[in-house]
Amino acid sequence: MKTLITGIPKAELHLHIEGTLEPAMMLSIGKRNGLALPFPDVETAQKAYDFEDLQSFLDIYYKGASVLLHEQDFYDLTMAYLKKAVSQNVRHTEIFFDPQTHTSRGVAFETVLDGITNALRDGEKTFGISTKLIMCILRHLSEKEGLETLERSLDYRDRIAGIGLDSSETGNPPEKFAELYERARGAGFLTVAHAGEEGHADYIWQALKTLHVRRIDHGVHCMEDDTLVEELVRQQIPLTVCPLSNIKLHVFASMRDHNLKTMLRRGLLVTVNSDDPAYFGGYVNENYLAVQKALRLEPGEIVTLAKNSFRASFLPEEQKKLRLLEMERWISKHNPT
Ligand code: HPA
Ligand code: ZN
Repeated sequence: MKTLITGIPKAELHLHIEGTLEPAMMLSIGKRNGLALPFPDVETAQKAYDFEDLQSFLDIYYKGASVLLHEQDFYDLTMAYLKKAVSQNVRHTEIFFDPQTHTSRGVAFETVLDGITNALRDGEKTFGISTKLIMCILRHLSEKEGLETLERSLDYRDRIAGIGLDSSETGNPPEKFAELYERARGAGFLTVAHAGEEGHADYIWQALKTLHVRRIDHGVHCMEDDTLVEELVRQQIPLTVCPLSNIKLHVFASMRDHNLKTMLRRGLLVTVNSDDPAYFGGYVNENYLAVQKALRLEPGEIVTLAKNSFRASFLPEEQKKLRLLEMERWISKHNPT
């Protein structure tokens, strides 16, 4: 089972680049930039990563991101993640970034974007991994501020594939961003949104019906509403589920209580992802391993999850077929269980 999980080619579709900032890198970049460090050492940082809920995590995540100032910082962060992803047999990754987290501190939009996209370009060339970049809007801020950020991104349509929505979910429903999503779609962006992580099924309905998103990030609360599940299955709307994140943020009491297996068995297009791996205790393979163990997923279900990761991606259909063929070849060669 371990060979299957670690070796099978896969895509990652829910990954915040700021959430890959490992404590050691946070401290070294902070020192390099001559900043007062968010934590004195790695151990203190790790001890602080004991969250009660989404908000308590976000408070620490924004504090960590405050060490990122220069293009090189964003480059190093992104390159380190790509190396890790490649080592876990991730062949394609769709990466979120949060420009408002940085522009609010006086870092230029271009500094963030150039650092990330130069690393994506170099990583694609060096490791053969393919990537897409999704710009997330912070939902705790106003739609007006989000619209200003969307406006900034229009000059970089060639480097940004999609628009997403993250940060504090409760009290910031998808419909708050109806105009922004309409504009984003009009400008040709693909759209996704975090919905149903802490928020309830009605937030997922809003993401579908008001924002018209192509994919739901998290979405685990869909199971409260049978009609919603039927709709998600009928339209095969992908859900980017992040098991370790859900446990760390107490969305489920324990991994054994996670509903991923039930979701799969209902025919939902579920994928497994790491969300913020530096904060939640593991990258994508650790997420597969933890959820497999707790829910006793069968080999066929692991293969389905890996296939779903390509099917749910924003790769062109031709590319999806090639990735799935590569996976079939890997399976017949290794015959793993
Ligand atoms: N949810 C909402 N916002 C976030 C997350 C998340 O899991 N990770 C980083 N920003
Ligand atoms: Zn997320």
